[in-house]
Amino acid sequence: MARKENVKIGVIGISGRGSGMLRELLKVDGVTVPAVCDKYEDRAQNGVEIVKEETGMDAEMYLDYKQLLARDDLDAILCCTTWITHSRIAIDAMRAGKHVAIEVGGSASVEECWQMVRTSQDTGKFCMLLENCCYDRAEMALFNMERQGLFGEVVHVQGGYQHDLREEISMGRENRHGRLFNFQHRNGELYPTHQLGPISKLLSINRGNRFVSLTSMASKSRGLNEWIKKNKGEDYDIANYNFNEGDIVTTMIKCANGETILLTHDCSLPRPYSRGYRIQGTKGIYMEDGDQLYLDGMPADDDTPSWDHSWKDFEPFMEQYEHPLWQKYSREGIHAGHGGMDFLVLSAFADAVKENDGSSPIDVYDTAAWMAITCLSEESIALGSQPVAVPDFTNGMWIDREPYRRGVYCLEEVCNDFFKCENTEEGKE
Ligand SMILES: NC(=O)c1ccc[n+]([C@@H]2O[C@H](COP(=O)([O-])OP(=O)(O)OC[C@H]3O[C@@H](n4cnc5c(N)ncnc54)[C@H](O)[C@@H]3O)[C@@H](O)[C@H]2O)c1
Repeated sequence: MARKENVKIGVIGISGRGSGMLRELLKVDGVTVPAVCDKYEDRAQNGVEIVKEETGMDAEMYLDYKQLLARDDLDAILCCTTWITHSRIAIDAMRAGKHVAIEVGGSASVEECWQMVRTSQDTGKFCMLLENCCYDRAEMALFNMERQGLFGEVVHVQGGYQHDLREEISMGRENRHGRLFNFQHRNGELYPTHQLGPISKLLSINRGNRFVSLTSMASKSRGLNEWIKKNKGEDYDIANYNFNEGDIVTTMIKCANGETILLTHDCSLPRPYSRGYRIQGTKGIYMEDGDQLYLDGMPADDDTPSWDHSWKDFEPFMEQYEHPLWQKYSREGIHAGHGGMDFLVLSAFADAVKENDGSSPIDVYDTAAWMAITCLSEESIALGSQPVAVPDFTNGMWIDREPYRRGVYCLEEVCNDFFKCENTEEGKE
């Protein structure tokens, strides 16, 4: 199918995240948003106003997403709703003939992941998890370094979502926010993909490698009760609520090619933000905490004895191994939104919609495998940390997949040839 240069995208879910993403999406070349939806009227109306402010155009407002999906002028849907609604909206969108991108979150069942996979296969429409961290500057530089062999053969990777969200979670009803109910009723790795996305691309998951099994363990839950008592008072109705979600949930995943992955979910205790990325291979190690790395045989600093395995600052390496997409992006001017990665993931989504060949840099197999970690970790915890098998959503194709589409937004390899002219000294003018 011929590439389209102008595409129309409908946006569903216009709360904090959806309104920010809508603004960013409207900055992407060739994208218009003629329709917006939220089940709350004030939020849907806010979507209409954002489109007007950013583009001067009128968008139609919907409270029922199925009515928005019934339009025949939309190429794709951007879905920024709650965790438990993403997959059903994605499935309905693909059935309505639209490509779809969904905001991040985990799945509640393996079945919903299979439904996304089968619907994408049946309709030829892609389903892309909008994992913005795959396009973050550090993650992309580290991917570039790994593909150039600086870490040797990767053996172990760590990451997590370590973000003090006590206020956001506890005030869920006042702010009409979806996280609270999950922490009340579920116990598992509720938000796996911010670091699992980049990790999966690094380890070529679903293309020559796959998750085989996992085991999870949850600590006791204390952080939310303490925050609520201190900030809302002892008499607040959920001050003594017995939250199911443990304060720290750790999950270990074993991969077919022998690597181990350690994920940490840590959102209800006081702490600074960190995704705790760590890559460890036969030739070196990177650690986000401390922003440092060590490479075997790396020349020691002048005053450091050669036997001293000391850390080096990551910053100069990030500059030296800057991913060409970030070189181009920095030159053209970085847009807002989590340091710029939101604009890049939305640009990657829009590019896939324009290509219209049914492929996307994060595809439905990635979406299903990454999201499934949530319900599988719940299962493991409920079974006393027993190992549980991770389904192969590719049905064996991971050992022999169709080729991926190469290009500037590719997450399987660094496609330097696509940047050649732009990133030469000449191209920089
Ligand atoms: N990638 C990131 O960096 C990042 C950052 C923040 C949030 N998120 C993710 O974005 C998503 C939204 O986050 P949020 O903080 O805005 O959540 P939220 O709970 O405040 O908003 C979700 C919105 O979806 C709407 N909605 C739910 N079901 C709907 C339906 N059936 N039809 C129409 N609208 C519906 C709700 O009314 C609400 O306005 C979540 O998955 C969250 O994890 C991602």
